[in-house]
Amino acid sequence: MTTVNYDDLGKQLRALTEGERDTISLMATVSCEIHAADDRFDWTGFYRVTGPQMLKIGPYQGGHGCLLIPFSKGVCGAAARTGLAQIVDDVEAFPGHIACSSSTRSELVLPVWNGKQRLLGVLDIDSDQPGAFDNSDATALTALLRDIFQDVA
Ligand code: SME
Repeated sequence: MTTVNYDDLGKQLRALTEGERDTISLMATVSCEIHAADDRFDWTGFYRVTGPQMLKIGPYQGGHGCLLIPFSKGVCGAAARTGLAQIVDDVEAFPGHIACSSSTRSELVLPVWNGKQRLLGVLDIDSDQPGAFDNSDATALTALLRDIFQDVA
């Protein structure tokens, strides 16, 4: 059973990404390391802001994800639209949830900002376990994302 230690994950990611400012390279590295860190994480990836009110898939780990998500749709759109973390214990109870996999039961989606408060996109983590995420995951990952993406243009 692999359970994430967020302090260790943060140290690892800071070491791997030191000096890197390319958004895609950072997203690829972050999704890879987060995905490997915990057995709850069955899909881990980013959706990037690519236009007004539009998200497009970025680097991810897991089965294929849908390519485009408007801010008006899905859990990812809710995170991008509101700027708030979305902790979804039961995806079937979330109005407008977009199912990229029929096995997904719960989801965590976090907005990703740069240091100038520009919304870069969202981090989406899906789990096949119901109720897999809580505020401690959202708080730790939000701090980690802020640290890693603060110097991105
Ligand atoms: N479930 C997400 C869509 C992305 S797939 O899960 C990778 C949503 O409802 O926005």
